[in-house]
Amino acid sequence: MVIANSIGNDRRTQQEFTVRFLDAMESLEQDEEWCWVEYGGITKKIRFHDYDEVYKIPGLYEFLFYEKLECNSPRMVCSLLKKELDQSPTNPEDLVVLDVGAGNGMVGEELVRLGVEKVIGVDIIEEAGEAVERDRPAIYEEYLIEDLTELSPSGKKILEHRDLNCLTTVAALGFGDIPPLAFAEAFNLITAPGWIAFNIKERFIGNEDSSGFSRLIHEMTEEGIMNLRSFKRYQHRLSLAGTPLYYDAIVATKQKDIPREWIDAMNDENHTFRF
Ligand SMILES: C[S@@+](CC[C@H](N)C(=O)[O-])C[C@H]1O[C@@H](n2cnc3c(N)ncnc32)[C@H](O)[C@@H]1O
Repeated sequence: MVIANSIGNDRRTQQEFTVRFLDAMESLEQDEEWCWVEYGGITKKIRFHDYDEVYKIPGLYEFLFYEKLECNSPRMVCSLLKKELDQSPTNPEDLVVLDVGAGNGMVGEELVRLGVEKVIGVDIIEEAGEAVERDRPAIYEEYLIEDLTELSPSGKKILEHRDLNCLTTVAALGFGDIPPLAFAEAFNLITAPGWIAFNIKERFIGNEDSSGFSRLIHEMTEEGIMNLRSFKRYQHRLSLAGTPLYYDAIVATKQKDIPREWIDAMNDENHTFRF
């Protein structure tokens, strides 16, 4: 049954899309939620986490996640970073940020709003780069389509020569998106000392976590690889059924690289962590 019928708007072309949400969504995990979208005379069932499909329709990502589901994460994570910068000698304009899982540029836009002048984006899907080019062309100095677990030689060369001193990754860890290995590889592209700002669903850093993030983050802090500066539990967004979904926003400083043995262990076929 149709319980909502919303009109979104492509800001650039003014072409409208219609989104229909169905009831009986209560039992769905957040990466299983979907809706019907009508755009350009075609109606499609789109799963919210099928980002390639979502980015292809201008304005749909913003409409679904930010208007309908009240997502607040780019602003929350970036403002926590800014708060910590304000208490340090680093200014936003000193940062060269690697924004991983950059999507269509919402985090980059927020960083620029806070005074950051150099942001390099990385995402695994081409549609993300195309959406940035279409919707936020002035935000990133460079935007690479790369899998950080298998960085291409040209991508590696570009990133290693940028003197990256800050990593952001927002709404992109876990749920089959960025795995611990990609996070670790991105972390090691940042200079030490450097800044790290990210969010993660609270379940992924609890004792029950089996994704590997909880263990990695705890080991990194215990070994002094990163020092936690700020940790904030907050409402990331609503589920389609209207239930608040809680994430942790974390700001830390990088002290040193993650040891290569840890990364090799993660690279292991079984993704077992025996460091
Ligand atoms: C929910 S979107 C978040 C986009 C943006 N950070 C934001 O907050 O609006 C998650 C993004 O992570 C990207 N992603 C998933 N797996 C990835 C990987 N292994 N490496 C880089 N990006 C990845 C997806 O393509 C998607 O664009």
